[in-house]
Amino acid sequence: MRKNIVAGNWKMNNNLQEGLTLAKELEAALKGKKVNCDVIIGTPFIHLASVAAIIDTKLIGVSAQNCADKASGAYTGEVSAAMVASTGANYVILGHSERRTYYGETNATLKEKVSLALANGLTPIFCIGEVLNERNAGKHFEVVETQIREGLFNLSAEDFRKIILAYEPVWAIGTGVTATSDQAQEMHAFIRNTLVAKYGEAVANDTSILYGGSCNASNAKELFSNPDVDGGLIGGASLGVDKFMPIVEAF
Ligand code: PGA
Repeated sequence: MRKNIVAGNWKMNNNLQEGLTLAKELEAALKGKKVNCDVIIGTPFIHLASVAAIIDTKLIGVSAQNCADKASGAYTGEVSAAMVASTGANYVILGHSERRTYYGETNATLKEKVSLALANGLTPIFCIGEVLNERNAGKHFEVVETQIREGLFNLSAEDFRKIILAYEPVWAIGTGVTATSDQAQEMHAFIRNTLVAKYGEAVANDTSILYGGSCNASNAKELFSNPDVDGGLIGGASLGVDKFMPIVEAF
């Protein structure tokens, strides 16, 4: 059975000390509480090792927000999947729209990153989603299908089972404009059907598909009540325990 997951994406926020404090506060809030989802935090690279060392990573999974598309070598400034894994992190967010838009990441480079992440035992949280013009032109399904096909469909069914998907309509990220519950469910069902066609019902039904884009304490419950929405990738609202915990508890 697929898991419910609430994953925070801190983006480029919090210095090391602030990040450690936030991680500890979240751990304290979760300790002894029975929640109905897995909880993950996606921190900047420099936080990973320290965060993984001071929290119970069975209670809170630790994720990078990116990794290199090369295994190792002369790539100044890059961080490899093996390095991420060596910190104690277990997840890596790949293909976030901010990476695609500001840093020119393509489906082809993402395919390499996914392979390296899997080869190093990391679970990719693979982001997909259309920009507003694409939705207005009625191209959103086509765009999302292409991102999935070109980024992931080289994987065997066995490897695909290790992927978490995050549908994040770009027009909803950080804008305060959330996709409606119906828009989210419609796209998530489309994504699941795309997976059925490629990998069959069993794999598709076991894949967690998260929603991201201005998800917060007031809309999480409605979004997560949809049959194909298995949780959220949370940006702004993951930066404070008071905002993040109600989303975790929406399940
Ligand atoms: P947001 O970001 O929740 O601030 O809209 C979500 C994301 O980009 O993952």
